[in-house]
Amino acid sequence: MNAEIIDGKAVSASVKNRIAVETAALTEKNGRKPGLAVVIVGENPASKVYVNNKKKACAEVGFESFEYALAEETSEEELLNLVKKLNADSKVDGILVQLPLPRHISENKIINAIDPKKDVDAFHPENVGHIMIGDYSFLPCTPAGVMELIASAGVSIEGKHCVVIGRSNIVGKPMSMLLLHKNGTVTICHSRTKNLKEITKTADILIAAVGKAYFVTADMVKEGAVVIDVGMNRNAENKLCGDVDYENVKEVAGFITPVPGGVGPMTIAMLMENTLTAYKQRRDSECP
Ligand code: GUN
Repeated sequence: MNAEIIDGKAVSASVKNRIAVETAALTEKNGRKPGLAVVIVGENPASKVYVNNKKKACAEVGFESFEYALAEETSEEELLNLVKKLNADSKVDGILVQLPLPRHISENKIINAIDPKKDVDAFHPENVGHIMIGDYSFLPCTPAGVMELIASAGVSIEGKHCVVIGRSNIVGKPMSMLLLHKNGTVTICHSRTKNLKEITKTADILIAAVGKAYFVTADMVKEGAVVIDVGMNRNAENKLCGDVDYENVKEVAGFITPVPGGVGPMTIAMLMENTLTAYKQRRDSECP
């Protein structure tokens, strides 16, 4: 058997296309484009690539982007001051501070300082609470992208055993909530889980968000399962690869996402969606 490949690039292009059409009409009506501020601190090469991709996507859908590339030595106070300035800036609808931050800066403090109405990552505790309840002001970008990919494959989540490997605040935890809200039976696995393979083998939908190259091998996957790879790693040859041993797992799975070209482009499309939502909600609340 050979798994059907879920094409994240194509699904992302169609989401961005829909956003571009709506943005053009709203920009014309309101005389202002949606604006996204992207803040990066330090020289993390992967972060630089992500930030560039986010800027490119803004241009594609007709948003304005404001980039703040700060030096590694930037103090927590300086970053907090920038966040406050962006909170007050009427041209900025969404604020994204790329993680990870240098060790001397508290990520929690920075996330807490972002105005929840501009928190397009949905990392602020207020938005995390909304996600928990199932009232989505902002969608958590990567998990929401995964949900779109599963839907694009025509797979229903209701009653399925969904296994999420990873419990991060960015992916694992919100991912589990979205699956639960679609009536999946959700198991969260992590580094201390015992008998991991026995659990993953029973997954109808398997989400890998581990951060380890080729972690999910074919013997861990049930025949016909939907396998979604959130990983973004470098292998021994410095080539981009996911958490899933794609070449072997595709022989067993029913559907699979590639890396690159799977979840990555969807995360960015969902970020654009959240920025447009922030723009529309601000106009609703602030403009006559
Ligand atoms: N670092 C890795 N993924 C993300 C993300 O989705 N948002 C932010 N801000 N930082 C990240």
